[in-house]
This record gives sequence, C-alpha cells and structure tokens, in this order.
Amino acid sequence: MAKYEIIGGNPLVGTVTISGAKNAAVAILPAAVLVAGRCRVENVPDISDVRILLNILRDLGAEISQPEEGVVEIDCTEVTCTNPNPELVKKMRASYYLMGSLLSRFGKAKVALPGGCNFASRPIDQHIKGFVALGADVEETEEYVKLSPGPDGLHGNRVSLDVVSVGATMNIIMAACLLPGTTVIENAAKEPHIVDLANFLNTMGANISGAGTDTVKIRGVEKLRGGSYTIIPDQIEAGTYIAAVAATGGNVLVQNVIPKHMECITSKLQEMGAKIYNYDDSIRIISEGRLRGTTVKTRPYPGFPTDMQAQICVCMALASGGSRLTESVYETRFFGYCSELTSMGADIMINGKTAVVNGHPKLHGATVRARDLRAGAALVIAGLAAEGTTFVENIGYVERGYERIIEKFTALGAQIKRIED
Ligand code: EPZ
Repeated sequence: MAKYEIIGGNPLVGTVTISGAKNAAVAILPAAVLVAGRCRVENVPDISDVRILLNILRDLGAEISQPEEGVVEIDCTEVTCTNPNPELVKKMRASYYLMGSLLSRFGKAKVALPGGCNFASRPIDQHIKGFVALGADVEETEEYVKLSPGPDGLHGNRVSLDVVSVGATMNIIMAACLLPGTTVIENAAKEPHIVDLANFLNTMGANISGAGTDTVKIRGVEKLRGGSYTIIPDQIEAGTYIAAVAATGGNVLVQNVIPKHMECITSKLQEMGAKIYNYDDSIRIISEGRLRGTTVKTRPYPGFPTDMQAQICVCMALASGGSRLTESVYETRFFGYCSELTSMGADIMINGKTAVVNGHPKLHGATVRARDLRAGAALVIAGLAAEGTTFVENIGYVERGYERIIEKFTALGAQIKRIED
C-alpha cells in the first residue's frame, strides 16, 4: 500500500490550479448513457473514481476516447447492456447514478449496491422513492437494485424528498429526462454540481429548469443528442487548498474557481483571520500569524459543506482559543479523522453532532491512516502544518478525489512525497 511522507512546517506560497469537480464528473459521465450520440466533456479530473466509471461505461458498450488531458469523448449510442459489472460498481459510490440513466434510456436497470467512503450509513431510500414515483417496479436485495416498468409504465411525476439528498436529486433528474410527462422534485439539493449536471443535460437537449433551487422541473424529451460541455471547478478541492494555506500560513493564488461557490468556505476562514481576495476566476488567500477559533455548522449548499468538515477542523486545532464544529449531514463523520489528529497533538472532544476543539500552537508529526477521502485530505493538511514528519497511510482514498495532489502541493513549497510500501 502506498503512503505519503510529509515534512511539515513550510508555508505554502505560489499558484495552484483547481481541477474539474469530482462530484459533477461522477454524475455527468453516467448521464452520458442518456445520450444517443457523442458527448465531448472537458475539465474532467484524472482521479480514480473517474477512471473506474469510464471502465464501467466501456464495459456497458460505450465508445470512449481521451484525446487530450482532461477531455473525455463518450458515445453511448451502441450501449444496450443494463447490468453494469458489479465488481466495478462496488468500487465507488457514484456508480448508483447508472440506475437513473439506464432506467430512463432503456426502461430497466440492474445495478449492484454502491461502495465508496463509508464514514456513515448512506442509505438510498430517497433514490428508490423517486424511481417508484416515476412508475418503476423496484426489486432491492442486499446485493443489487433492479428496476423495471411498473403496471402503468414509466412516466413523469412529483417527488417530494424527505431528506435534502444530492445523490437522489441527481439520480431522479437523470431518470426523468427521457420519460413522458413532467417531473417535479421538491426539497431538492442545490449544490453547484447539481446545476452542472442539469446544464450538461440541457446542452444535450434535455428540458430541465430550477436546478440550484429546492424545486427542479424536468420535462421529458424523446431523445438527447451529442454535444460539448465543460465541467465546473471543484469547490471542495479549492476549499481544501485554501484550508491548507490557512493552516500552514502562506500566500497562494487559487486559480480556476467560481468565487460564488466558495463563499460558504472563505467566509469562515476570514472569520478565523485569513485574508481572502476574490477575482473573476481565482481567489488569493494570505495567512499570517495564528488563526482564531470560530464556530461552524455544516449544512447542505449554500451552507458550509460537510465535505469541508475535516479540513476546517485542522485549522481549528491550530487556532487560538476554542472552536465548535457541528455536523448536520453525516453525524459520524468525525470518527474518520479526529483520533488521528489527536495522535498529532490536537485537542478535540466529540459530543454527538458537535466537536469542541481547543486550539494548540503546533501539531507534531505521526503515522496516521486515511479512513475516507476528505479525512485523508485533512491528514495531509495536518502533516503540512505539523512539526516533524508525518506518514499518511491508506492514501487510495485521497487519490479517489484529488488530481495530482503531490505535484500541486510540491509546487507550493510543501515537502510531500508518495512512497510505495
Ligand atoms: C454526495 O453524497 C457527495 N458524493 C458526498 O461527497 C457529499 O458528502 C454529500 O453528497 C453531501 O453533500 C457524491 O456526490 C459522489 P446525500 P450523497 O444523498 O449523494 C441522507 C465526497 O467527499 N440520505 O446528499 O451520497 C444521507 O444519509 C463525498 O466527495 C438518505 O437518508 O449524499 C445523508 O445524511 C463524501 N437517503 C444526507 O441524506 C437517501 O436516499 C445527505 O446525503 C440519500 C441520502
């Protein structure tokens, strides 16, 4: 197993360019199954989740080429298989988007239950609720979900989500695209990657309105044609680098971002004492001296993202004074990294949904393990800020979602390298 060796203490200085959004790419690529034509998708991050998805799509019969870095051309015209390879599907979470896209295009699907980061119980009952509302018969076992048309056939409908769910919102949008009639999703999630998926599908001829609000309307169309689309920058990758500069100190220009998407993150780091300068498609962060403690509550977008919980916790662990971090999306997410940070000298007390963090001037190096994608990213930040050497093990999680992380941090002056065991 590979690990990172990090020699901490260097301030981060220079420029980093953010890649395409992971959580948009892992929805847009399965959505290409809806299109009987060639889609050219640009700004696709080269991460393991994307590589696995492309293998699943090839296995289904999609024609895929990658003519240049960050570009995927995918033609699903000849796809007929509606039962993606379970061994590949189980390697990641977002493979469940194939349920919606295969159901809409072919009227049926048999998809193994997803894998992915297991920092919490991650049910898919809201996805199933949507498919049933659209007229599907659902057979759900411990291994797979099988969808087929119910007695009244597949059709548009109103779906009111019981929980604000990114995945269910995306899956139902895909499932509704090619069905007769109109679908309205109420209590929909509003993340930037949902808007990105809707924009991709509309570029291919879909008729989706309201994405980014809590009510999304999808008017079914006969078919989708090919076209070109560029994925938005990754809000969480950008937030991770901004938090890293806040934790280590330094002065970095973060390029290829949408500042509006970053407000929920940068406003918190400004509260902690970092200086933030917004430009059209970049943000400069300057962090000098010690951060101040603050209070954060994670919320669905436009609130502070749960996927930034671990990263901001590292900043809190180094800040002067106390901080409170309350999780509202996944209650058990703290357990993916807090004990590891404690072994580096952090002072964190978890009490249900809230972690109380007493800041210390320094963390010290240790050998720690990544237990999920964002926990792993937080441990990298902690290692960069700590005194001494940190080894982060189990880095497969990190490389699922962060393109060229070693290269990007090294270019900012970090001492980090990848070691194969
Ligand atoms: C997406 O996961 C992201 N993953 C997660 O990012 C992110 O943490 C999460 O959204 C919240 O923003 C991808 O986009 C691939 P949800 P998802 O459905 O769709 C409950 C990362 O680090 N729920 O919005 O699975 C659920 O338990 C990953 O990039 C149900 O109860 O999240 C949770 O409490 C980690 N029933 C809440 O809703 C359902 O059917 C939000 O989950 C679905 C969800």
